[in-house]
Amino acid sequence: MEKPAKYGGRPVREKPLPTVDDISGRAIGEEEEKLVLEVLRSGRLFRYVGSKVAELEREFAKLMGVKYAVACSSGTAAVHAALAAVGVSPGDDVVTTPVTDMGTVAPILFQGAVPVFADVDEDTCNVDPRSVERLVSKRTAAVVPVHLFGFPVDMDPIMEVAEAKGIAVVEDCAQAYLAEYKGRLVGTIGHLGCFSLQQSKHMTAGEGGLVVTNDEELAQKAALFTDKGWARWATVHGLEPREYALLGLNYRMSELQGAVALAQLRKLKWVVERRRELAERLTRRLEGLDYVKPPPRYSWAKPSYWQYPLQVDLDRLRVSLREFAEALRAEGIPCSAGYIGVPLYLTKVLRERKTFAKTGFPLVDNPFYGRSVEYKEGLCPRAERALKRLIVVPWNEFYTPDDVDDIAEAVEKLVKYYAAQAR
Ligand SMILES: Cc1ncc(COP(=O)(O)O)c(C=O)c1O
Repeated sequence: MEKPAKYGGRPVREKPLPTVDDISGRAIGEEEEKLVLEVLRSGRLFRYVGSKVAELEREFAKLMGVKYAVACSSGTAAVHAALAAVGVSPGDDVVTTPVTDMGTVAPILFQGAVPVFADVDEDTCNVDPRSVERLVSKRTAAVVPVHLFGFPVDMDPIMEVAEAKGIAVVEDCAQAYLAEYKGRLVGTIGHLGCFSLQQSKHMTAGEGGLVVTNDEELAQKAALFTDKGWARWATVHGLEPREYALLGLNYRMSELQGAVALAQLRKLKWVVERRRELAERLTRRLEGLDYVKPPPRYSWAKPSYWQYPLQVDLDRLRVSLREFAEALRAEGIPCSAGYIGVPLYLTKVLRERKTFAKTGFPLVDNPFYGRSVEYKEGLCPRAERALKRLIVVPWNEFYTPDDVDDIAEAVEKLVKYYAAQAR
């Protein structure tokens, strides 16, 4: 049996894999340069004097098959604008998943609402619709399903509950460009869909966000929210007093970001197709392997693989998650142990209620609840368990089939080694 590199053996590969952190794994080239130069040469760097952000909005809406897209400064801003648009307010609950980025949850708190965490499905780490249904109450203003790692959430039961109770659904698609649920693009199923353009996403402008919807009023409110509530059309001549129609922030996207994002958008289908083909290759290799579970195949799900999640049966292998991840890295395969590590409600900000400086609002002495809100270990047992055996391998459209085979080989090598040790 081959000794793992962590214990002195030869690594499966020495050449670094392409990464989203630099040009080795980012489809950034002449197309982006051309559009950025156009912006620079025009001197129009602000979206309301230029045309690139508006063009991005039009093209993204078309690709998604929706009426409206609103660009903004980040995925967090996109979720915030969407929640503000549907009217999430102090006193409300918003039901979401604890296995996500803080960018899903911070906007809930900034609207003065309480995040209510539903447990997840252990096979996908996506929010479990049955848990959502149990937590929905008269207080619930919105549900925020997150299509984690690009794997679609089972949306039908969530939409059924939401429609029956008149609750808004804001899909967090930061990791799920062009993922499909029953043939429909995620982001177009709920009332609004939110995307991120941060460095690691399927398409990037370094930072940036997009909100999509078919509802004109929601689109207008989201757009106002990203521009300090300024109803620019009411002051079009610059002679009238400004109309600030609602409380908003400056979440605008710049023309430089818009230019990069527009060029990136035109490559998106290729990026997703490549990632899918490569991920299917890895899944085929790992499907029959005992002790590890690749992402499931469901007839209704067409994932877009932001990253590649792998569940490892650590109890049977008698190895810690950290040690397994270190061993995989030593084989030349980058990975993270447990994605965010712990469900979000166990991070300091929520557990210690580090919100709104001195007040802890809306978690401390919530005047609408008549009590405080506490998050404790055990709240979502399946989420807690799932993260403890989750290895996440970065995914990339520039991997070659040989790169994917190296990943498979490294996983197989470690599983065989630890399985033999455990006997
Ligand atoms: C699921 C999810 N939601 C929201 C965000 C927030 O996006 P951003 O970092 O662009 O604010 C991210 C980004 O990491 C994410 O993965």
